[in-house]
Amino acid sequence: MLIVVKIGGDILKWRRSPELILDIRHLLSEHKIVLVHGGGVEVTEIASKLGKRQQFVVSPKGFRSRYTDKDTIEIYTMVMAGKINKQIVSTLQSHDVHGVGLSGLDGLLVQAKRKKRIVIVDETGRKRVVDGGYTGKINKVNTQLLQLLIENDYVPVIAPVAISEEFEPLNVDGDRTAAYIAGALKADRLIILTGVQGLILDDQLVPKLTVSEVKKILPKIGGGMITKVYAAIEALEQGVGEVIISFGLETHPISSPLKHKCGTVISRE
Ligand SMILES: Nc1ncnc2c1ncn2[C@@H]1O[C@H](COP(=O)(O)OP(=O)(O)OP(=O)(O)O)[C@@H](O)[C@H]1O
Ligand SMILES: [Mg+2]
Repeated sequence: MLIVVKIGGDILKWRRSPELILDIRHLLSEHKIVLVHGGGVEVTEIASKLGKRQQFVVSPKGFRSRYTDKDTIEIYTMVMAGKINKQIVSTLQSHDVHGVGLSGLDGLLVQAKRKKRIVIVDETGRKRVVDGGYTGKINKVNTQLLQLLIENDYVPVIAPVAISEEFEPLNVDGDRTAAYIAGALKADRLIILTGVQGLILDDQLVPKLTVSEVKKILPKIGGGMITKVYAAIEALEQGVGEVIISFGLETHPISSPLKHKCGTVISRE
């Protein structure tokens, strides 16, 4: 199977918990794996150390995103494609897994159209149109480059930075990046690992959902999780077999959700 795994949130501190890498190493004997990571919290931390306060905006659909001006995209690229990406690669290498760290700029891996303007909801609940900054909507993935790597037993490790039509870096959401990559590769599974057990509704983990069921409950889902649910829908619509949102610090963080032992499984029907 070809499995795309998105790792985000708290689990990026996995240096102290090797379970994820051990699971990856074990799965690689039978499967191909592509990793996509997040790391928004660390971007905010480094930006504040550099004296650049980060601003967040919320879209009418409830997506919370970083307002990405010129300074911010530079910091974002440095932290995502530099610090975090290379930390993951070196941790993989220390366990004999051959990771290759890439951003969407490398080999035009993830191409996006810059958003000229975005609609946000301000503190008073009113909609406003603001400059889109350096954020983008993904429109193409260079699957050939990924195939080249995975066919030769490398594990691509992809930072959520896309390249614009004007060849600038763009901030793209990690969950959506993983969905597009999984969709373009026609991956069998997309596993989204995060700091919670899966989709939680009324304090209960939802074990299984179809796309039509999930569409009905969208307004009940909060920021952070909503992008994963949209990413799941996008991936399934692009032909991915199944999407599972699961906790990244399980003993077998990938094998267990693959066997439906944990997490929220989202399927086409
Ligand atoms: N209905 C819900 N069920 C579960 N989690 C939810 C729900 N609504 C909101 N959340 C929040 O979504 C968060 C997960 O998204 P978040 O963006 O924080 O992490 P991540 O995507 O794993 O990390 P990164 O953004 O760095 O890639 C959870 O920690 C939780 O607080
Ligand atoms: Mg997130």
